[in-house]
Amino acid sequence: MKKELTPFLTENYISKEYFCDREAELALLKKYAQNSVNITLLSNRRMGKSALIHRFFEDMEAENYACIYADIFATGNLKELTEELAAAIFKRFPQKHGFGRKFFDFLMGFRPVITYDALSGSPEIRFEHVTPVEYETTLRGLLTFLDTQNQKIIVAIDEFSQIAEYPEKKTEALLRTVVQTLNNTSFIFCGSKKHLMLEMFNTANRPFFSSTLTIGLDEIAADKYTAFITDKFAIHKRTVDSEAVAFILDWTLRHTYYTQFVCNAIFADGEKKIGIDVVKRVCDECLRVQQTTFMQYRSLLAPVQWRLLVGIAKEGSVTGPQAKDFLRKYNIGAASSVKSALNALCDKEMVCSIENPDKTAYRVYNVFLMRWLARTIKSL
Ligand SMILES: Nc1ncnc2c1ncn2[C@@H]1O[C@H](COP(=O)(O)OP(=O)(O)OP(=O)(O)O)[C@@H](O)[C@H]1O
Ligand SMILES: [Mg+2]
Repeated sequence: MKKELTPFLTENYISKEYFCDREAELALLKKYAQNSVNITLLSNRRMGKSALIHRFFEDMEAENYACIYADIFATGNLKELTEELAAAIFKRFPQKHGFGRKFFDFLMGFRPVITYDALSGSPEIRFEHVTPVEYETTLRGLLTFLDTQNQKIIVAIDEFSQIAEYPEKKTEALLRTVVQTLNNTSFIFCGSKKHLMLEMFNTANRPFFSSTLTIGLDEIAADKYTAFITDKFAIHKRTVDSEAVAFILDWTLRHTYYTQFVCNAIFADGEKKIGIDVVKRVCDECLRVQQTTFMQYRSLLAPVQWRLLVGIAKEGSVTGPQAKDFLRKYNIGAASSVKSALNALCDKEMVCSIENPDKTAYRVYNVFLMRWLARTIKSL
């Protein structure tokens, strides 16, 4: 029997059919892009930033914008940034005629080595320049060339905070100068390392200070997600109880990736009538398959970090990690050591912060790990 394609994606983007809501964010993105306002898009990991960019690009391509997406997570210096951006532009304009031809001829002036990834078929570009100045010239040249072609362009640079890790500390300033001179191109700078991103865009002595408007992504509203999940199962002739959907949303905290993952697993499970028992069984399976990985964290973390992590998991979220009651309850130790343990857990992306107007709460980043710790670890 042919396997049904899942309507619940856990990676990549296919089309808007698979995408839930974000109408308010899409409207804002559109308004800003139409007014050539550059945007910073921020959220915790796996909330849906990259998917939102692709969803937005689907609409904007239909309105004749040329949308370029570059993920610079794997880049470590100016050379690799230039190569990644060049490849992203080349991928958008692969045609051997019209603008594609013009861009190709222009690109060839920088003597690139073009190869194609054996698995994905995506183009990869390497420049063999000798000096950093040549990379600066290439980067500036490519973006300026694009900008002068009478075409509205949107460039999204995903995992943008990576730039702060480059040895060429001038890259931020270089990019800011280029961005400032373009007329037909607007930018979306996207990232999950909130403190790094905020430092880049909100600190007065940084090149990008106050140059963008920020959009933050929170959880998708419960009513919208409920309708999406119910509809997607219904299209595939499955029914799901409202109680079961409420459980999914609550158990995954509506953190998009985890909600998608659980729905995907329920779909794969194949039941036609999905009640709360099915959902609980699948959630349990989601934890069991990751148990071996989760168990290793204890030996990878310092004892105080481990106890703090378990304490936060068991509480769900914690606003006062240095409060006496909390420290005593989970045998964490002195308040003085909690701050550095918390910073370490945040740096390792094991704990994330949720900023509310009056206070900051902390929770375990990986919702499955949180559920597993809360139920499995008995004593500390
Ligand atoms: N609105 C949505 N509707 C349905 N699925 C979504 C939605 N947003 C995101 N997803 C799915 O959730 C998963 C996580 O989303 P995505 O990778 O876009 O998050 P991210 O914020 O870019 O994460 P990271 O910070 O790790 O890069 C993906 O599988 C994506 O397909
Ligand atoms: Mg992403």
